[in-house]
Amino acid sequence: TYIIAQPCVDVKDRACVDECPVDCIYEGDRMLYIHPEECVDCGACEPVCPVEAIFYEDDVPQEWAEYYDANVHFFDALGMPGGAAKLGPQKMDHPLIAALPPQNQ
Ligand code: F3S
Ligand code: F3S
Repeated sequence: TYIIAQPCVDVKDRACVDECPVDCIYEGDRMLYIHPEECVDCGACEPVCPVEAIFYEDDVPQEWAEYYDANVHFFDALGMPGGAAKLGPQKMDHPLIAALPPQNQ
């Protein structure tokens, strides 16, 4: 799967959403999250993010390694919604992100 990391927090450009062929990039309150089971590893999202927040799972910089768990566990309560558009933005974040002071301002 691909992973969204810290540069997205409080930025949420959303350019990635338009590129994803399976609509598996979901909006939280402060960042977006890629569904690890719905992502088909097409990689289309990665180059379009203007702040370079998206990485293949094996290429996540060490300083942002915990964002792997944040992307995966964001979906603990959501399951496999089968599409971000129909689910809509969520008024919550993974606890790691929710606890951060304002980022990337
Ligand atoms: Fe975030 Fe970049 Fe997408 S800022 S919403 S990962 S285009
Ligand atoms: Fe979509 Fe990016 Fe995966 S475009 S299928 S989230 S690699």
